[in-house]
Parts: sequence; C-alpha cells; structure tokens
Amino acid sequence: MTHSKRLGIIGAGKIGTAIARVAVAAGYDVAISGSGPADRIALTVNVLAPGARATVTEEVVRRADLLILTVPTHHFRKLPRDLFTGKIVVDAMNYWEPIDGDDPELAAAPYGSSPVVQEHFRSARVVKSLNQLGYHEFEENRRGPGSLDRVAVAAAGDDPEAVARVLQLIEHLGFDAIDAGDLDAGIALGPDGAAFGVAYNADQLTGLLWPENSSNAERSDERTDRGATVRTRLDRADLKKLASGAAP
Ligand SMILES: NC(=O)c1ccc[n+]([C@@H]2O[C@H](COP(=O)([O-])OP(=O)(O)OC[C@H]3O[C@@H](n4cnc5c(N)ncnc54)[C@H](OP(=O)(O)O)[C@@H]3O)[C@@H](O)[C@H]2O)c1
Repeated sequence: MTHSKRLGIIGAGKIGTAIARVAVAAGYDVAISGSGPADRIALTVNVLAPGARATVTEEVVRRADLLILTVPTHHFRKLPRDLFTGKIVVDAMNYWEPIDGDDPELAAAPYGSSPVVQEHFRSARVVKSLNQLGYHEFEENRRGPGSLDRVAVAAAGDDPEAVARVLQLIEHLGFDAIDAGDLDAGIALGPDGAAFGVAYNADQLTGLLWPENSSNAERSDERTDRGATVRTRLDRADLKKLASGAAP
C-alpha cells in the first residue's frame, strides 16, 4: 500500500513542531499551521522543524489527506465543522482541566475526548493517536524497525482504512504501531488511561490494550489489513476499567 507522504499538521506548538521534525526526518512533505497567518509561525517552524512548510490551516488541509490536530484541546471547536471533510484526522489532543479549563462535555465524555472531536468534525475520519507521549519523546525514542528498544504507539478509530494509514505513519516515524480498536477505545490512550505517558514497548502496550490475548503462549502477531497486530476488542466495560487504571 503506497500513499502520498504529504502530511498536514494544525497547531505549530510543542507537539506539532516535534511531530513535524520527526516526520520531515522520515521523508514526509510536511505543512504546518497556527491560528494566524503563515509569517507568524515561519521563524518557529524554520528553527524547530526545518524542512517543514509554514502555511495557513486551509492550505494545510487542502494539500494533504492525512492531518494531525495539535491545537490546545479547548480550541478545537473554533475550527469549522466541515474543515476536514473526507480527510483522515489524527486527534493528538488530550483534555486536561488544569490547562484546558472546565469543559463539561469533555469531562463527562464516557470514552474520552475523541468521540466528541469526531462528533464536531462529523465528515472527518478521526483516529486517536500520537497523544500518549510527551513532545520531547518523539525525537528521543524514534528507532528503526526491529530495534530492541523501539517504543510502541497505538491508534484507535472506527474507520479501518484510516487507522491503517495512521499505523503506517507511526511506523514511518520510528515506532511500533499497535491497533487499539475503535475510537471509544482511545480513552485508554488519554490522560486517565492505562497506556498514557509511559514509553512502553510493543509487547507491554499490547498487553495493556489487549490483555486477554497477551499471554506469552498465545501471542498472535499476524499482520492484517488494518496494518498491525489485531486482537479481539475489549468490551466496553473492560475499556472503562482500563481507563481508570484497573485490570479488566
Ligand atoms: N506538549 C505535549 O507534550 C503534548 C503531548 C501529547 C499531546 N498534547 C496535546 O496536543 C495539544 C497541543 O499541545 P501543545 O503542548 O503542543 O500546545 P501549544 O504548545 O500551546 O501549541 C498549540 C498550537 O496550536 C495553535 N493553535 C491554537 N488555536 C489554533 C487554531 N484555531 N488553528 C490552528 N492552530 C491553532 C497555537 O497557535 P497560536 O500560538 O497561533 O495560537 C499553537 O501553535 C493539546 O491538546 C495537548 O494536550 C501535547
């Protein structure tokens, strides 16, 4: 499966520029935008992500099918609902009240912020990913395929083709890609989830996300058309337990 290596990033802050930097290193043609005109972020992008192109959001979206949303979570609703029609949008945002303020809808969302983001951008193909690690960890932890200390990053989404594209991106960026299941499962990747904030390897992350299939004896690593090791999905009650850090 070959796809365009054009990548668009909306949000030229800490995580946006960090992902832009590793994506350029991985051979992607990267365009990135902030909330204003291109010249406002041009110097930042030149310094922090040389090789990436600073532009405006409309142009970022126009030129790429694969987009990463890295604006502050309390700002995503400012973007037009139809901005991403038909596009794959990686939701790399995390809702964290001390930073984002009290957001009753996000705070009460049973499966985390991504289903709310998908509801806002109904015509987009939202995939939760690239939100697990701190921005500095992208460059520190990226490794070539097969490296013993390669870190794993998961992706969760309802559109299998979109998830496969994101899993491919994760591999290209230098990480083992793990399919976490549907978009609701993305809650396990967020701030209250068991898979958040730790640089796990593929076995460890798989064990957290798919505990019923993680016994050493029964590992099944076949690659499927979703592009990664796919295991039986947890049921929703198990996901809630995972989100609270309890063993399902
Ligand atoms: N920092 C991390 O290590 C990390 C890790 C994982 C996930 N995340 C998540 O990623 C998101 C961004 O975090 P961050 O630390 O990168 O924040 P940040 O450093 O504050 O950067 C946010 C960027 O988004 C831009 N922005 C704001 N509103 C925008 C809009 N309407 N359209 C386009 N761009 C817009 C800002 O541009 P202006 O300056 O022009 O407003 C700024 O460049 C958050 O949801 C966070 O939880 C962060």
